[in-house]
Amino acid sequence: MNENPRMALTKGRLEKDTVNLLEAAGLDMEPVRKPSRKLILQVPQFPLDLILLKGPDVATYVEYGVADLGVVGKDVLLEDPKPVYEVLDLGFGRCRMAVAGPPEMAATPKKHLRVASKYPRIAREYFEGRGQSVEIIGQQGSVELAPLMGLADVIVDIVETGNTLKANGLVVLEEIVPISARLVVNKISYKTRRHEMNRLIDMMEKQLTNR
Ligand code: PRP
Ligand code: MG
Repeated sequence: MNENPRMALTKGRLEKDTVNLLEAAGLDMEPVRKPSRKLILQVPQFPLDLILLKGPDVATYVEYGVADLGVVGKDVLLEDPKPVYEVLDLGFGRCRMAVAGPPEMAATPKKHLRVASKYPRIAREYFEGRGQSVEIIGQQGSVELAPLMGLADVIVDIVETGNTLKANGLVVLEEIVPISARLVVNKISYKTRRHEMNRLIDMMEKQLTNR
């Protein structure tokens, strides 16, 4: 318990904005900015250790209390819900979860729809909630290929700029939910390390209202 609080950061898309936010909050983020393959980093002059993970693993580390806090996309939290406290909408990493497909799909409702997605749970809940019969085909990436190749009728995926859809002749057919990065906290840490957690949450929250 004397050890530093630990924060899990999502590598990749959310990384830069997360580092900028923590830096604006007054933390020296030099160790993260320095190119390296290290996955555990200490913030100089401040009691905080950072670990770098893929999104779904951030939520797992926070769930088990191996990390006290984490920054992760709402898409990840919706796809694989974990018993963690979601305390802040960080406002960056904004995109939308959407159904997309060839433009002609808009005019042709189907009795049974084949849906390719990296988000099988979100896709299933969305369509079943609307009484649409679906077969979900799980994908690891390049989901836009599926309707082009005839693997699926439509996809469920995140759309940020829309460039990937456009480049592949696809359009947004329906919007499901807006997405952004969230700060999550382990439930036990939130109680037993309340002071440290609140200090970090406040530091980050202040920067959001300053923007
Ligand atoms: C993501 C997402 C979309 C695209 C959306 O893919 O799955 O394909 O980015 O961004 P845009 O609207 O700005 O084009 P990513 O680049 O992460 O690759 P992957 O799906 O192959 O993992
Ligand atoms: Mg993609």
